[in-house]
Amino acid sequence: MSGKTARLSIPGAAAELELPVLSGTMGPDVVDVQALTANGYFTYDPGFVSTASCESRITYIDGDRGILLHRGYPIEQLAEKSDYLEVCYLLMYGELPDAGQKKRFVDVVMRHTMVHEQLQFFYRGFRRDAHPMAIMCGVVGALSAFYHDALNITDEEHREIAAFRLLAKMPTLAAMSYKYSIGMPFMYPDNTLDYASNFLHMMFGNPCEKTKINPVLARAMDRIFLLHADHEQNASTSAVRLTGSTGANPFACIAAGIAALWGPAHGGANEAVLTQLEQIGDESRIPEFIARAKDKNDPFRLMGFGHRVYKNFDPRAKVMKQTCDEVLSELGLEKDPLFRIAQKLERIATEDEYFVQKKLYPNVDFYSGIILRALGIPTNMFTVIFATGRTIGWIAHWHEMISASYKIGRPRQLYTGYTPRDYVPIDRRP
Ligand code: CMC
Repeated sequence: MSGKTARLSIPGAAAELELPVLSGTMGPDVVDVQALTANGYFTYDPGFVSTASCESRITYIDGDRGILLHRGYPIEQLAEKSDYLEVCYLLMYGELPDAGQKKRFVDVVMRHTMVHEQLQFFYRGFRRDAHPMAIMCGVVGALSAFYHDALNITDEEHREIAAFRLLAKMPTLAAMSYKYSIGMPFMYPDNTLDYASNFLHMMFGNPCEKTKINPVLARAMDRIFLLHADHEQNASTSAVRLTGSTGANPFACIAAGIAALWGPAHGGANEAVLTQLEQIGDESRIPEFIARAKDKNDPFRLMGFGHRVYKNFDPRAKVMKQTCDEVLSELGLEKDPLFRIAQKLERIATEDEYFVQKKLYPNVDFYSGIILRALGIPTNMFTVIFATGRTIGWIAHWHEMISASYKIGRPRQLYTGYTPRDYVPIDRRP
């Protein structure tokens, strides 16, 4: 509570309504509008652009200044000095682990990487050309049918077991969806590897040979997971919270998050970036696509540019760009035609007046798409990788909500449909 109040005068009401103004530790003050309902009003806020749906201690974003903090730590420092599993610990428990805590955490995660053997038959029910995100929505939702020994969401220990299972098994499930699509045997996890290397092993290994993991590429994979770990109340995290607020089990909640992430305006953007680069096809066609993006009568958008909250720059994109350069140079891909298109597009768009004026900068998905392609990951797996990295954020938010007092999420509406009218029998309808 800030001690401040906001006064709202409502036409026809006897007195002004006094609404408390709340202050967080950072960020703008928030007008608490909960008292409105009792007075017969709601707020109208399509897209929730002016609505805080919850109180949270996990992640802070200042879009204008390009700041992203996890539990207070700047993303640039975490990306440079930490690793994905350490950030997972931080998001889940609120503090960085000491050496013993980190070792135990990594050990537990890496001992839960295997999935129930029966799950592979679940995969076999899908067509081989199914989109891996479609498979992930189904398979992650189905996990509750395989691990129903720890589904009591009011039990702290059950919640923790579910969290470990989700974090540990997502890379395995993701890699299985890829292996299934190309008709190769599923790879068992190798728990002697680190999280990112193990994922690359399950994606690109085969049972007949020992997998060789390039440490530069493993580090890039780890960074991709880390930079996607959490982003406060975005669409998919809000979907997880909303689903969780009904008391649904954590696997169902994460499946809801995966479904929300799939859209091209959210996690589907990294896939859309690559599809668009392929459509552009040649550097000479870049001006044509830039012109389409600027045309008010054309719904076309340049994928990988712009962000709902970052109106200056996306701090994740800065780090991702550096990793992108490292990976392209490690693989000798600087001259690859597609990557040259990407680099030229980035240059032109960041200098173009339309993009500069509207504050449309390359976002994290622009660079992550390019890195993933360089790693040899097929385009339709990109959003699956985003989902894998984001799983910890979803879990942390779900856990934070369930551990405190919460209400079922139930937005209201401004009804603009018909007023009451009488049913018309079918033979008398116009
Ligand atoms: N290309 C061309 N014009 C754009 C673009 C773009 N990528 N993004 C926004 N605009 C224009 C838009 O047409 C609008 O113009 P006007 O004011 O003349 O109507 C103005 O910029 C503001 O756009 P908006 O749609 O009101 O902005 P928003 O905050 O609602 O949308 C966004 C944010 C990310 C959905 C949007 O920028 C977009 O569609 N970008 C492309 C998709 C993309 O890269 N998404 C990944 C986001 S990062 C990953 C994540 O965090 O999920």
